Amino acid sequence: MTALPVSKTVWDALLRMRGGVAEDDFAGDPAWDLYAPLARRSGGSFVVAQVGQSLDGRVATVDGDAAPISGPDGFAHLHRLRALSDAVVVGAGCVVADDPRLTVREVAGPSPVRVIIDPSGRVPAGARSLSGEGITILVRAEECDAPAPCETICLPRGPGGRLCPQALIAALADRGLHHLLIEGGAATIRHFLESGQVDRLHVTIAPIIIGSGAPGLSLQPISHLSQALRPRCRTVDLGSDLLFDCAFDRGR
Ligand SMILES: NC(=O)c1ccc[n+]([C@@H]2O[C@H](COP(=O)([O-])OP(=O)(O)OC[C@H]3O[C@@H](n4cnc5c(N)ncnc54)[C@H](OP(=O)(O)O)[C@@H]3O)[C@@H](O)[C@H]2O)c1
Repeated sequence: MTALPVSKTVWDALLRMRGGVAEDDFAGDPAWDLYAPLARRSGGSFVVAQVGQSLDGRVATVDGDAAPISGPDGFAHLHRLRALSDAVVVGAGCVVADDPRLTVREVAGPSPVRVIIDPSGRVPAGARSLSGEGITILVRAEECDAPAPCETICLPRGPGGRLCPQALIAALADRGLHHLLIEGGAATIRHFLESGQVDRLHVTIAPIIIGSGAPGLSLQPISHLSQALRPRCRTVDLGSDLLFDCAFDRGR
C-alpha cells in the first residue's frame, strides 16, 4: 500500500481552516479531499467516530493488549483527526484499559479538549488524560458524587442507564466545542451510532489478524441485513492501514 501524501502546504491550510480562517482550496489533493470536511467550520456540531481495528474487526486481545493495532500511517491519521477536532471524547473503559494521553504528537497541530464519559467516577485521578497539560472535562451521571479533579458536565441517566449523546453534544456546543472526535471504545461509539449522532465514521484496518478479543464496533443485534446501517463509503489507502470513510446523515 502507498502512504497518503499529506504535504505541509495542505496540512497548514487545513489547520488554518480548522481555526476559522478563510479557506484555501486544494480540491483534488487526496489529503485535502479527505480532511477538509472535518476541518471546515460551519457553526454547527460535527461528529466523527473512529476505530482502528484488525482485519478480523478486533481492537484488543482477550487480555486487553491494544497497542499498537494500527500501523504508523493509521496512527498518524488518528492524530490528524485529533488535531482537526475541538474535543476528543472517550469512555471510561478506554481510559481505565489504556490510559491514553489523547494529545496530538504525531503531526503538527493543537491538542483537543479531552472529554471522558465516566458516569460513576471510576476513572482514577492519576489517569494521564486527567493530569496532562490542556483541558479535560469529565461527563458524570447526575447522581454521581465522586470528587472530580476538573470541570464536569452532569447529565441525567436515560433508558439503560445511558447518558444521552445528543445532550452531551449540546452541552459541549454550549462550551464552544462543536467538532467532536469520538475515539472509542466500542461502547461509547455504539451509543453515538445507535442514537444517530455520527456524521462520519472512520474505520482504519491494519493487516493483522488477532482472532479473538474486543470488537471495534458492536451494535444491537438485528435479524435482517435490510436493517444494517449502510453509510455512503469510500476507501483511502493510508499506507500501513486502509481507511473506510463512512458518511451518515446525522439526525439534528
Ligand atoms: N482501536 C481503537 O480505535 C480503540 C480506541 C479506544 C479504545 N479501544 C479499546 O476499547 C476497549 C474499551 O472499550 P469499551 O467499549 O470497553 O469501553 P469505552 O467505550 O471506552 O467505555 C465504556 C464506558 O464508558 C461509559 N460510557 C460511555 N458512553 C456512555 C453513555 N452514553 N452513557 C453511559 N455511560 C457511557 C460507561 O462507563 P461505566 O461502565 O463506568 O458506566 C461505559 O461502560 C479497550 O480494550 C481499548 O483498548 C480501542
